[in-house]
Amino acid sequence: MAIISGSFAQTKTTEKIVYKDAKAPIDQRVSDLLKRMTIEEKAGQLNQLNGGLFTGPAAKDAGQKTKMQQLRDGKVGSFLNVLGAKETKAVQKIAVEESRLGIPVLFGFDVIHGYRTIFPIPLAEACSWDLKQAEKNSAVAAKEASSAGINWTFAPMCDITNDPRWGRIMEGIGEDPYYGSLLSAARVKGLQGNLNDVEHIMACVKHFAVYGAVEAGREYNQVDVSRVMLWNKYLPPYKAAVDAGAATVMNSFNVFEGVPASGNKYLVHDILLKKWGFKGFLVSDWSSFSEQINHGYAADRKDAALKAIQAGSMMDMESKVVIDFLPQLVKEGKITVAQVDKAVARILYYKFKLGLFDNPYKFSDEERENKTMFTDANRTEARNAAKSSIVLLKNTNNVLPITSPTKRLALIGYYAKSKEDMFDFWIGNGTANDAVTIYDGLKNKLGESAINYAAGYNADGTTNDDLINAAVKSAYDADVILVNVGISGKMAGEDRALANPVIPDGQIQLLKALQKTGKPVVALVTAGRPLILTKINDLVSSIAYCWILGTETGNAIADVVTGAYNPSAKTVVSFPYAVGQIPVYYNHFNTNRPDPTDDAGNWFSRYRDIPNDPLYPFGFGLSYTTYKYSDLTLSSNTIAKTDKLNVKITVSNTGKVDGEEVVQLYIRDITASIIRPVKELKAFQKIALKAGETKELSFTLTGKDLSFFDADGNAKLEAGAFKIFVGGNSKDVLEKDLTLK
Ligand code: NOJ
Repeated sequence: MAIISGSFAQTKTTEKIVYKDAKAPIDQRVSDLLKRMTIEEKAGQLNQLNGGLFTGPAAKDAGQKTKMQQLRDGKVGSFLNVLGAKETKAVQKIAVEESRLGIPVLFGFDVIHGYRTIFPIPLAEACSWDLKQAEKNSAVAAKEASSAGINWTFAPMCDITNDPRWGRIMEGIGEDPYYGSLLSAARVKGLQGNLNDVEHIMACVKHFAVYGAVEAGREYNQVDVSRVMLWNKYLPPYKAAVDAGAATVMNSFNVFEGVPASGNKYLVHDILLKKWGFKGFLVSDWSSFSEQINHGYAADRKDAALKAIQAGSMMDMESKVVIDFLPQLVKEGKITVAQVDKAVARILYYKFKLGLFDNPYKFSDEERENKTMFTDANRTEARNAAKSSIVLLKNTNNVLPITSPTKRLALIGYYAKSKEDMFDFWIGNGTANDAVTIYDGLKNKLGESAINYAAGYNADGTTNDDLINAAVKSAYDADVILVNVGISGKMAGEDRALANPVIPDGQIQLLKALQKTGKPVVALVTAGRPLILTKINDLVSSIAYCWILGTETGNAIADVVTGAYNPSAKTVVSFPYAVGQIPVYYNHFNTNRPDPTDDAGNWFSRYRDIPNDPLYPFGFGLSYTTYKYSDLTLSSNTIAKTDKLNVKITVSNTGKVDGEEVVQLYIRDITASIIRPVKELKAFQKIALKAGETKELSFTLTGKDLSFFDADGNAKLEAGAFKIFVGGNSKDVLEKDLTLK
């Protein structure tokens, strides 16, 4: 046991050390500790250092003491990227046994969709419309991560985006604020539980705010969004996650109204802290405090620290401007001790709440780590999550599922056998070796002899005559051709923007050659974003959009291909028809000229070369059965603002197999003081229907569902005409008129 050093160790036993007293209320422990801390130690609590792998540019810290010495000196409050029970324990030991006050450190890590058992990417998980499963997935991730010493993840990402060029679309919730809010809250609950056991960890709502609106989908780019859009489209998911009890929020890299989010008083102080009453603490994004200099908003590192803290931001991830300049800024009277205490108190609160003062090694338990990782139970959840994330976009002549045991399959595709491509950039502590490839999954299900495999293209999506000829040869021996097209999993995640989110030319060439065989071709598309499928849509009979599904990819795809699982997912992002159509999203505005205005069909909002509609709309996804919607009824055609509206719909499974359907309810506010989208999702139910079964569903809407926000964030409920729609996707709906008095 290391010797406890510093004044705490020397404190006379007669003095009551309240912050050390496990029985004292947390508030008292926090204020007692704050009284004992120097301003340098307080700055230390606001300093987060990278301790391991780099998930951002390396900071220039030549000449500084080693990180462990800085920790001993009380100058580090948390680390990111230090993993493993053993490693975190060793670092924690220095904090609690060798620093003056023995304040434990937090260990943060990007546990984005699993720690060791890797779940589908968050965008794929979103397509399941299964909030309970999403909560479970997060809980498994938290359980694994917590056993490796991690007590804080930088998730969930609550950024609404309409841009598949943005590599981080994979990490989010899709394009809808209502559904995105429910999902963000479910993810927070799964990660955090009540934060009072050893199996849950702190969540971090990111990136606050509006990072999903980066111009042209280019990472770290400019954002320019109006306050009306901010309140109505972008803020709801962050708010829902905060309301679900998220312990932390991360500043985003972008600017809002010309001011970087880290130094943006309107976002941080006025909205998050004041209006929403967020009680947790904020962490910057990786060096986003100092990057205010690059934005042209802060003059130097000292100014960057000043502007961030003045805006209400708190912990500094990796830019070290707070540790370097906060004490000086306080001495100069530019920042008050009260301001600093407010931020530090929140961080200390969570260290107490997590139980780290009383049991600092609580999360760093090697025995639990060994028992918890990659268990069969965790893999079962990952498989359930993966199969319910696969969106069936097309299935001409019911080519899928392949139920006959005598059918031979050709499986074509480099990625289909590449373990690494089952993962994206955010792999937590997953290892490619654990991944079940598509090839392995089909082999597990059907036996090796049932599958003819050929690569068909290279790792980068290019091809050549030899690869194509070999693929065609295996296809001739088969009854059905499965082709895994798309882009490498490595192209999904941070710093992976693509100007052309399309199926590579080489794969299109391959599909054309395979089509000539006259056999049915099924595209299994893997990518971390909705790719533009227009060029392949007519080359194949079926398209199963498989996203990036993680460890259980192959087993889940085999479940769907063989019909062991009937697909039930619906896309939460529109699939653009062409790159030039981006951004394309269902909840757009009507425009001044939505339809032809003259007899010749001219002068309206359109492209001359492509349709306005996406190739596949928001909410769309097929099943191996069919559903019929009928009898949409409203409890009344006219309601008062305080009334509840009951909406009923009958849904029948008209096919031959059991299935699950996501029934979606949208509204349109026809005329308002600010324009409203042509459709807005307001409710949904995912229901199971046996073959031939009919169910009547009931939804209740209140004034809240019919209201919107003005530019100041005030909710408005305005009388007038509305439309209510119900259907199986955002396009194919039944509708009724409603008047709000
Ligand atoms: C930068 C990313 O934007 C953020 O989401 C992530 O949590 C941090 N790096 C830490 O890796």
